[in-house]
Amino acid sequence: MIKQKNNMKILGIETSCDETAISVIEIIEKKTDEFEIIVLANELLSQIDIHKKYGGVFPTLAKREHAKNLPPLLTKALLKAKKTESEFCGYTKKNTVSEIPFDNSEIESLLSREPGMFSALKKEIAKIEKPALDAIVVTRGPGLEPALWTGINFAKAISTIWKIPLLAVNHMEGHIFVSLLKKRNFAEQNIKNKGEGPEIFDLKIPSLPIVSLLVSGGHTELILSNEVFHYQILGKTRDDAAGEAFDKVARIIGLPYPGGPEISKLAEKWRASGKKGLGIVFPQPMVNSKNFDFSFSGLKTSVLYFFKKLKNPGEEEKMEIAAAFEDATTDVLISKTKKAVKEKGARAIIVGGGVVANKILRQKLMFLSEKQKIPLFIPEIPHSTDNALMIAIAGGIRLIRFGNAVHDENFGAEGNLKMA
Ligand code: KG4
Ligand code: ZN
Repeated sequence: MIKQKNNMKILGIETSCDETAISVIEIIEKKTDEFEIIVLANELLSQIDIHKKYGGVFPTLAKREHAKNLPPLLTKALLKAKKTESEFCGYTKKNTVSEIPFDNSEIESLLSREPGMFSALKKEIAKIEKPALDAIVVTRGPGLEPALWTGINFAKAISTIWKIPLLAVNHMEGHIFVSLLKKRNFAEQNIKNKGEGPEIFDLKIPSLPIVSLLVSGGHTELILSNEVFHYQILGKTRDDAAGEAFDKVARIIGLPYPGGPEISKLAEKWRASGKKGLGIVFPQPMVNSKNFDFSFSGLKTSVLYFFKKLKNPGEEEKMEIAAAFEDATTDVLISKTKKAVKEKGARAIIVGGGVVANKILRQKLMFLSEKQKIPLFIPEIPHSTDNALMIAIAGGIRLIRFGNAVHDENFGAEGNLKMA
């Protein structure tokens, strides 16, 4: 059972793709829809270097890496959280020594599909005390199912060992909530610190209706919320997601995975060079369509044909292609977001997902927000790509709002989990 209260300590676990992440937060409801979030630990192990060789994320490899990473990452996150609490927050919630039911076949059977994890977890658990957590929150989907299952089985195991309630959340909701964080200055932090200490954020749910643009490796969606936690999909991609298009175009022009940051870097160099080049302009698919849907597959094919036609394409041509592709993609995203904001009378724009790390997209969104005189909530760059902070926050806000009404023990991974 999860007791409903307005101050919770939460552990978040994220394994939907190629980042293994665990975070520990304290979330405090200050007023209705206003929260304070103290980040006690935010640990992440990226598998990018492993998947690079394959030009994309390889699901079974991702699963194996998550299984290997999770037990030591748990110890690291919990020790960090404990240290942060005692050094900077002026209090330590009393942890109790775990009574590990390791003769309990329940844990072994929960982890039967994660080779090696049972013995690794057993070793790690012996190093740490039972944490004083109110809940464990884990990503249920969307994402790669084998990767999601590893996080879920691990979460179920530690929830059973420590008898701590477990909640599953939607990864995309995590991307939305993490965008609402506003970092506090150290001067405003009412904890004793010496220029150091945990990051503290304020989070205020904006005025409704809200239009959210979610752009990641697997998703491109425009969502309308007339109520908090209610999502109506206005439009989505009909083929490739925006991040997927960045990754595929990068591969076409010979750049490594993940393609988004690589394309961005080349494009930036091109703009800084001030050169005119070939004057490449790629089509902006569905930019004038009457709906809110997207399509990036045709744009990727245009890049492919253009690139193939070039004789001995050099660094300059690649740079120009990267910039022209980035322009076309970001222009379509902005144009559809603007249309949604106007037609739906939105009072706030939230953007989330890995592609929001893109600087040009960020600039264009800021410009749109200024022109439309509507607040924009955009994540800090390190919070744009997958992390566990976003999972802990989405779960924390749900728990404070609904308590055990959202509690569900018999859940599994849902690779195609929808927002609505
Ligand atoms: O949200 P995320 O970390 O994982 C998913 O849930 O998919 O998003 C990853 C995607 C990748 O496709 C990656 O290429 C893209 O985000 N990405 C970027 C940038 N950084 C990451 N795309 C464009 N520009 C960037 N700077
Ligand atoms: Zn994501």
